[in-house]
Amino acid sequence: MVGKRSDSTKEYWQSIYSSKSAQEVGWFQAQHEVSIEFINNSEIAKDARILDVGSGATTLLDDLLKEGYSNIMAMDISASALAVSKQRLADLITWKVADITHPLDIEENSIDLWHDRAVLHFFTSNMEKQGYLENLKKVVKGGGFVLIETFSPEGAPQCSGLDLQRYNEEMLERFLGSDFELILFKRHIHSTPSGGERPYVSTLFRRRE
Ligand SMILES: C[S@@+](CC[C@H](N)C(=O)[O-])C[C@H]1O[C@@H](n2cnc3c(N)ncnc32)[C@H](O)[C@@H]1O
Repeated sequence: MVGKRSDSTKEYWQSIYSSKSAQEVGWFQAQHEVSIEFINNSEIAKDARILDVGSGATTLLDDLLKEGYSNIMAMDISASALAVSKQRLADLITWKVADITHPLDIEENSIDLWHDRAVLHFFTSNMEKQGYLENLKKVVKGGGFVLIETFSPEGAPQCSGLDLQRYNEEMLERFLGSDFELILFKRHIHSTPSGGERPYVSTLFRRRE
């Protein structure tokens, strides 16, 4: 399914999570050090509303709970992915199955921190990118934060068999627009479970009041 974008996105991701364990997928990380460092750096309150988009079966949720964050929503297009985390964390997290490129039924200006690790880079069409951005702008409040981590330009052009749009910090700045100020960025290498190296960039933006 190289570069294909269609209604089959959901089935595609469902099949990935049904065929591999959460620890086998290339993006598995036991600890999300950079995200936690950036989130702590934002100094949001421990009960601030955090939305993790394309959450998959991430252990970021466990890391956030350990840090004391208590108001977390995990959303993903794949119910199978969320079911893995849900088994561990049940009612400690709010769960939502939805497509982030389509209008999201989350209240306007209700999110203090939007977290996206390895999701935006899968959206290669203008329609998908615009849908994502419209949701982000609708739900992130003024003064709120946006943390986006994507494959950097040195990274592989594909992940999980799909074409990617790779970004650096300037490209993410242009994507979000002048309402968002870049506060922090870090280039780093993710080691995959099979020993590969994936160059990523993590960015933290603050939405102007
Ligand atoms: C590479 S995985 C990253 C998962 C997680 N953020 C992590 O770091 O472990 C990409 C995730 O994005 C989800 N995804 C892909 N397209 C999506 C969409 N249109 N809306 C919501 N989630 C989507 C997939 O189901 C998958 O869980």
